[in-house]
Amino acid sequence: STVGFVLGTRPEIIKLAPVIQECHRRGVDTHIVHTGQHYSDSLDAVFFRQLGLSPPDVNLEVGSDDHGAQTGAMLAGIEEELQATEPTVVFVQGDTNSTLAGALAGSKMDVDVAHVEAGLRSFDDEMPEETNRVIIDHIAEYLFPPTAETAALLRDEGIPEDRITVTGNTIVDAVETFDNEAATSSQILSELGVSEGQFDLLTAHRAETVDDREAFERILSGVARASAQAEREVIYPIHPRAEDRLEEFGIAVPDQIRLIEPLDFFDFLRLESTADLVFTDSGGVQEETSILGTPCVTLRYGTERPETAFVGANCVAGREPSSITAAATQMRGKAGDWNTPFGDGTAAVQILDAIPELPDREAVTAPE
Ligand code: UD1
Ligand code: UDP
Repeated sequence: STVGFVLGTRPEIIKLAPVIQECHRRGVDTHIVHTGQHYSDSLDAVFFRQLGLSPPDVNLEVGSDDHGAQTGAMLAGIEEELQATEPTVVFVQGDTNSTLAGALAGSKMDVDVAHVEAGLRSFDDEMPEETNRVIIDHIAEYLFPPTAETAALLRDEGIPEDRITVTGNTIVDAVETFDNEAATSSQILSELGVSEGQFDLLTAHRAETVDDREAFERILSGVARASAQAEREVIYPIHPRAEDRLEEFGIAVPDQIRLIEPLDFFDFLRLESTADLVFTDSGGVQEETSILGTPCVTLRYGTERPETAFVGANCVAGREPSSITAAATQMRGKAGDWNTPFGDGTAAVQILDAIPELPDREAVTAPE
């Protein structure tokens, strides 16, 4: 028997890698279906290579499109794959269109769906990701919320207790596995000519941030101002969606901000752990900064990761330049001695332990 994985974007590859690796450690066969939602090497293949994963078993090459067309094409392709491979369970992660398509296809075909990073809610229906999350959590058989808070949100929505296992987030597993290697192998600081603690890092790619010309301009100007006050240059590895919008809107990027290509995982981890301050609208980056001890300012009006703010690692600033500079002043220089709310780096082990159809971890420990 085999275990299915459906994935399609950068964060899903990074956060499912620990689960895929744990399957292999237990001698469990995997079948990886890549939807092709992300296809540029810098958002896709580079992570398979760096995280030590074999290339996907199949790539549906769905590419970029409107939500309906993209999700529909994925659905048809995933269904065929599930019919051909009959997995015991199919894993999906997070809240993208690929995640939704994987969960829907599995659910309709009576394959148990396991949702890694369940229970997150922004309570913002304008976000396509929020629609995806709610649907996925209500059709999945196994739900793996990262924290007690996210588990409580699932219970509030009437999801039965026996589907829910709190495991922490697999991003902790990934960071713990690769952080040392990133620190020793990455040359990104010297390549960029920046020194530890002397620069800020920015990522912004969400539709609601960058597809709105005024919102995008305001955050760029707020971040530039906040970093200028501390005499920091800002490094912005830019996601292709954001790059497209800059061009389309003809936005002039403030001098304080240096655009670079999207980075591989090791280089990005290195920048995240050595930045003075991180500005972001990314979910994964809010989590990673809480793990690495770097203060974070979130360029949104809310977050589905409020635990990061509770521990003092993150300030949700909104998109006004004045609130961004205020948040930066509050966060810059924080010691970073909080505990990450996302668990102890054993999420993948706990996830596989919670699925009775799969061999448990003792089964793979070599006998004396
Ligand atoms: C998607 C997810 C988002 C996630 C992000 C991770 C949805 C609705 N959105 O957003 O939740 O945070 O991935 O990065 O699923 N493009 C490329 N190369 C690629 C992929 C995309 O150039 O490999 C460009 C295309 O111009 C495309 C645009 O980026 O139109 C947006 O891509 P898309 O996959 O639709 O959404 P993301 O913004 O990447
Ligand atoms: N990331 C990366 N290179 C970059 C920017 C981000 O490797 O240039 C990684 C980052 O470490 C994190 C993940 O991409 O694990 C976050 O993905 P993204 O921000 O695209 O999506 P989100 O988490 O918001 O869904």
